[in-house]
Amino acid sequence: MTKTALITGGNRGLGLEIVREMAALGHKVLLGCRHVTQGEQAAADIEGDITVVHIDLSNSDALRAQARHIMENHNIDILINNGAILRDGSVLSAKKEDFYDSIQVNLVACFDLIQIIAPAMIDRGFGRIVNVTSDWGSFADGLGGPVSYSVTKAALNALTMNMAHSLPENVKVNSVHPGWLRTDMGGSAAPLSAADGTETITWLATLPEDGPNGGFFHDKKPKQW
Ligand SMILES: NC(=O)c1ccc[n+]([C@@H]2O[C@H](COP(=O)([O-])OP(=O)(O)OC[C@H]3O[C@@H](n4cnc5c(N)ncnc54)[C@H](OP(=O)(O)O)[C@@H]3O)[C@@H](O)[C@H]2O)c1
Repeated sequence: MTKTALITGGNRGLGLEIVREMAALGHKVLLGCRHVTQGEQAAADIEGDITVVHIDLSNSDALRAQARHIMENHNIDILINNGAILRDGSVLSAKKEDFYDSIQVNLVACFDLIQIIAPAMIDRGFGRIVNVTSDWGSFADGLGGPVSYSVTKAALNALTMNMAHSLPENVKVNSVHPGWLRTDMGGSAAPLSAADGTETITWLATLPEDGPNGGFFHDKKPKQW
């Protein structure tokens, strides 16, 4: 059944491949990006029902208004929190601004979108939320990445588990580690293409009613938090 999916950071990297895949599956796609012209250029060669929408994750009040504006014209059935930043540095070397910006973009913005969008999903009796996190946000894997990234991705995983307790079963939320991908973030040495990272995400975005809820997945298999 055709659904409407909002994908943040949809203009490049993994987000653009998720857009491509969800459109190919026949869903209506809302390509969220902070620079609409870049989103339009990215979407130009993709077949399917794609609408470019303004989603800037860097300011909560503006973001909440952008989400409400989108909801005036669209029923969002699927939210994929994909957009994120990776800033370098350990707890001793990281710039304070990078840590604060990462909290905003990688965590607070996801909270904002969920808080604005999930109530309408609950009202309609259907919702799928996918939080794209990372193995660098896994306690079981040692939280070994840059402090700003690891801590915010671990916190987004925590949000996934926490909010699953508060949602009805027909609105599902799950986290995913997409793998190490050749994108601007992942770099050219990564073993996987951006398209290789979409399978688990589109699976979680289109779960049937008896699908998992409140989990962390990689390669369509549960991953330890
Ligand atoms: N690549 C990997 O190896 C890897 C591994 C594990 C997890 N992940 C996760 O996968 C997701 C996608 O990563 P990627 O590799 O595709 O990263 P990427 O190539 O750096 O792309 C990041 C996307 O996020 C958007 N974004 C960043 N800040 C934003 C803001 N303030 N407002 C709106 N959009 C913003 C970017 O938009 P602009 O073009 O406007 O900057 C871009 O579309 C992220 O959640 C990442 O943490 C990636």
